[in-house]
Amino acid sequence: MISQALKLRQLGKRVRVVAKDIRTYSRQAEELYEEAMRAGVQFFRYADDRPPQEVVTFEEGHVEFYDHYLGTRLRIPTDLLVLTVGLCPTEDNLAAQLKLSRSADGFYMELHPKLGPVETAVQGVYLAGASQGAKDVRESMAQALAAAGKAGALLARGEIEKEPLTAKHDPEKCIGCMRCVKVCPFNAIEQIGEPGKGTVRIAEAACMGCGNCAAECPVGAIEMPYFTRAQVTAQIDAALAEHPEEKVLVFTCNWCSYAGADLAGIEKRQYPTSSRIIRTMCSARLEERFVVRAFEQGAGAVLVTGCRLTEDGSDCHYNYANTHTYKRFKRWKRKLVRKGLAPERLQLRWISAAEGKEFAEKLHEMDEVVREYADKKSE
Ligand code: FES
Repeated sequence: MISQALKLRQLGKRVRVVAKDIRTYSRQAEELYEEAMRAGVQFFRYADDRPPQEVVTFEEGHVEFYDHYLGTRLRIPTDLLVLTVGLCPTEDNLAAQLKLSRSADGFYMELHPKLGPVETAVQGVYLAGASQGAKDVRESMAQALAAAGKAGALLARGEIEKEPLTAKHDPEKCIGCMRCVKVCPFNAIEQIGEPGKGTVRIAEAACMGCGNCAAECPVGAIEMPYFTRAQVTAQIDAALAEHPEEKVLVFTCNWCSYAGADLAGIEKRQYPTSSRIIRTMCSARLEERFVVRAFEQGAGAVLVTGCRLTEDGSDCHYNYANTHTYKRFKRWKRKLVRKGLAPERLQLRWISAAEGKEFAEKLHEMDEVVREYADKKSE
């Protein structure tokens, strides 16, 4: 919009931009904004706290609005009015077809902001340009080149390498309940036979390794390599081996919340020594038995974290798998509180990769909880 305004101005037109707010987040964009102002494009900020009918009106060749800075109503004669709106994600069903995750603002989400900026959680699907959010041409081209490079490298190999993180199914234990089929975010589990009598088959090429199926299985018939029940339980026991009542066990997912913890470290934020972090690929890997085990071992508190989940969407890298974390967490908490657990000792907090500060603050808050708990215990 700024470059169009500038071009019109260079053609000798009088250009006025009436906006709620202008954000130019890259260096070149800020320079363009300044150049437009120098060239004579006039920018106004309208106050949007007025009644809707008064915010901006267009009548009889005039635009009227309440100026935020001047604190007064302005009426500007206008020959041509051009309305521009913010960039919105498309309402297609491509995300559902390709099993792509969308972020809270509805754009497709990258695998990791730092480690996989053009990859998605679905192997072989890469992002470029405005599919991931508002971008200018230069940025879109740079990302498209990176995406093409990744796709080219994949094709040139002639074979696909997969992380050995796919779910493993044990037909001996399976009771054919088909709960795993219903919760798999990638439709990677095939139902074989009737529910209650049949079994399932996991398509390893389609499985992304979130662990949601393993957490859902009531009989432990699905295991996640590297995050097996025995391995996670051993980590819980080790973390709580000494003075467990003074410890906060923090479960993080590999992507956002662990990246948030990492960022807290990079930013040199101090967080209490009471916290012990256990990482799984997705928060949906967490099972009730892990939380129960932590409290059986005497943990002062347990904090479950994961990628952000809001009413508008989910940042989970496994196609909304953290919606299951949320449902399960509420169930575990209800059960444990009914058995006498103080509610503040089991908490859930969504953390984005950019929230190092929030992560550190939450750990301070949890530290207070365990201090109070340890004090009460020693009385
Ligand atoms: Fe973070 Fe699923 S990957 S909650």
